[in-house]
Amino acid sequence: MERKKILVNKTNPILFGHNAYEQLNDLIIQKSYSKILIFSDYETRKYCLPLLKSKIESIIELTETHNYSIDSGEINKNLESSKIIWEFLIEKGFKRNSLIINLGGGMITDLGGFIASTFMRGIDFVNIPTSLLGMVDASIGGKTGIDLKNIKNIIGSFYSPEITVIDTHYLDTLPIQQFKCGLSEIIKHSLIEGENDWSRLKVLKNLKELNEDVIYTSIKTKVGIVDRDPKEKNIRKFLNFGHTIGHAIESYLLGTDREVLHGEAVAAGIIMESFLSKILCNFDKKKVDEIKKFINSHFDKIIIRDEEIPEIIKIMSFDKKNQDNIPRFVLIKEIGTIEIGKKVNEKDIVSAFEFYSS
Ligand SMILES: NC(=O)c1ccc[n+]([C@@H]2O[C@H](COP(=O)([O-])OP(=O)(O)OC[C@H]3O[C@@H](n4cnc5c(N)ncnc54)[C@H](O)[C@@H]3O)[C@@H](O)[C@H]2O)c1
Repeated sequence: MERKKILVNKTNPILFGHNAYEQLNDLIIQKSYSKILIFSDYETRKYCLPLLKSKIESIIELTETHNYSIDSGEINKNLESSKIIWEFLIEKGFKRNSLIINLGGGMITDLGGFIASTFMRGIDFVNIPTSLLGMVDASIGGKTGIDLKNIKNIIGSFYSPEITVIDTHYLDTLPIQQFKCGLSEIIKHSLIEGENDWSRLKVLKNLKELNEDVIYTSIKTKVGIVDRDPKEKNIRKFLNFGHTIGHAIESYLLGTDREVLHGEAVAAGIIMESFLSKILCNFDKKKVDEIKKFINSHFDKIIIRDEEIPEIIKIMSFDKKNQDNIPRFVLIKEIGTIEIGKKVNEKDIVSAFEFYSS
């Protein structure tokens, strides 16, 4: 199969398959790193580290290499974990010319990238995403971050890896529920990109059919946007499609016995924001129904009671992305044509919830 390579900002390549490890090995040789840290969580250490080691073993034998793993889960993407790893790096004598290799899902690439961006004012790092969400979204675009006081990604930096390695073999052990988190971002990317990508995706029947080509196409969309607007001043906001409502649902249900994964909430958000797009941007009703049907075929419906909707709408007003406590929506005019900064009244949001639940 053809091996593909995408360039972000002309300097940070995203590499696929076998070629990717060759480039990683070349990078390690060329830069003569003094030390390497392979950073993972205990699950990716168990399921993914053996494959990585087999690909870079002969090279890292020549360099002092450490493994460090933390417990998995968003709850560990915090300052305490950062401190433990900064201290580990100091103890082991890591210097400016050391390398961190992040091996994991978005939790590890966000946290490891943040640690790399701050240790000695910034050392090199490499992302090897092992979850679908990590591959198509979290490891791409140069955002690193940790959570503080229950606010996601409130502390962080824009800092890019030397290279990103995409190897879909890691997905063999990924739990199916985690696939869904990636799928909602793939759906979003296809709707932003245009009819071609959406038509190819909408025929997907089984999540295991998500192959390297779908992943490549999805990454390409994100890279195209991030390259043009790295600091989210304008078009990078397109990537928030589905997230205004999705994020509010996720936050509302957090800590209850009905907690949902981020990707599940975003999928519901995509249906509702497509519906709002019909009301406010004349988005084709047939397309809205098509999107709803596709998402409902892959995701369980989230039950939201009528009396819960006002609370969820309130959460939207407090979203950290708002400038003035007024939620701003990203909506679709047509598949591939996006509008940002749309104000939506409460009545229409309630109708969107009704449409989703019907
Ligand atoms: N920086 C960005 O632009 C950006 C964008 C989107 C999301 N994010 C962040 O990404 C994070 C979510 O990422 P995620 O969904 O990958 O979650 P995650 O990293 O928590 O991984 C989910 C679970 O899957 C496990 N896992 C990962 N790869 C595996 C594999 N190959 N085999 C078996 N188990 C595996 C992990 O151990 C974990 O238990 C959030 O913190 C979010 O804020 C960042």
